[in-house]
Amino acid sequence: MDSILDYDTVELNEEDRSLRIIDQTLLPGRIEIIDLTTPGEIWDAIYKLKVRGAPAIGVAAAIGMYVISVRIAQTCADNAASGATGFDFGRFCREFKKQKEYLNSSRPTAVNLSWALNCMDRVCREAVEKGSANGIPDPEPVLEALRSEALRIRDEDVATCRRIGENGLTLIGPGDGVLTHCNAGQLATVRYGTATAPMYLAHERNYGLRIYCDETRPLLQGARLTAYELSSAGMDVTLLCDNMAASLMKSGAINAVFVGADRIAANGDAANKIGTMGVATLAKAYGIPFYVCAPMSTVDPSTPDGDHIVIEQRPASEVTEMWYTERMAPEGVKVYNPAFDVTDHSLITAIITERGVHRAPYDFTKEQ
Ligand code: MRU
Repeated sequence: MDSILDYDTVELNEEDRSLRIIDQTLLPGRIEIIDLTTPGEIWDAIYKLKVRGAPAIGVAAAIGMYVISVRIAQTCADNAASGATGFDFGRFCREFKKQKEYLNSSRPTAVNLSWALNCMDRVCREAVEKGSANGIPDPEPVLEALRSEALRIRDEDVATCRRIGENGLTLIGPGDGVLTHCNAGQLATVRYGTATAPMYLAHERNYGLRIYCDETRPLLQGARLTAYELSSAGMDVTLLCDNMAASLMKSGAINAVFVGADRIAANGDAANKIGTMGVATLAKAYGIPFYVCAPMSTVDPSTPDGDHIVIEQRPASEVTEMWYTERMAPEGVKVYNPAFDVTDHSLITAIITERGVHRAPYDFTKEQ
């Protein structure tokens, strides 16, 4: 059988210049790789969580913008060929901006999405400026600059996660029991994951960790994705329902909690998958260190605190029927279904980035 770890979560299919992802909604039952080219397909894949997890969304958006730009350039070139004018950079840029804003509207909480789109936008503007200054109306150098920026963002994600792993590993001992919530694993990044990066490195070094995965209601990322990828890697994994974390902590099985983040405010408040705040509160009650692992691209200095983070609301059907063979809630019942919650910085022992282990009061500008 194929191992999920042999696949890239997000990649550029160079042959037909498309965005290639694993459709995560089908895991763990089926590994299906899909190629996307249109803005609608890419938006839909992000919104429907075919590709999900903050860093993976960022990489998908970056590669997605390159893929879309190839098609925009084609349309502008076709128009130029049929008329007397040369390649219309103005039109290209207007369409680029429109599609960038469209992709940015797919999910509001993970800041990596707008971060990656802004990186692509900056590179696009610089390349267009250069092209216009040369007086050569050729879109190819602009497309090449966008391609290499998207691949840089992808490669940087791998290196960053590995460094998060090294930094996080300093906080774990051999034989430890480690709890995680949602999927901040390889499937949420390009490789290693964020919260799982220390676990992958510990596994390489034979630490013999005991990993516990919260199921993560309502979309079951912990059960479907984390338990799946970590057990595929040969780790000792135990799955539990979200409401079992308290009794597990009380039993003494857990030495540390590692989770990811979708946006970290300047004061250290961290938005992550719904339920994370509850796990952090329990960890504090049982004196268990609670660590948030994320790349610096998840830190949003323009958001002062967690109250300023926009929390995505998801469809009611995810709670009432999506995972059941028949509906499990009365028709028409009101449903509360926020995708994320914000863990107050007072509940977080430390935030681990590629730069080091940050502790309160947070100053993310400093190397640790
Ligand atoms: O709704 P999802 O599945 O995109 O939520 C994912 C999470 O909350 C992850 O923990 C977070 O994005 C960090 S991923 C390294």
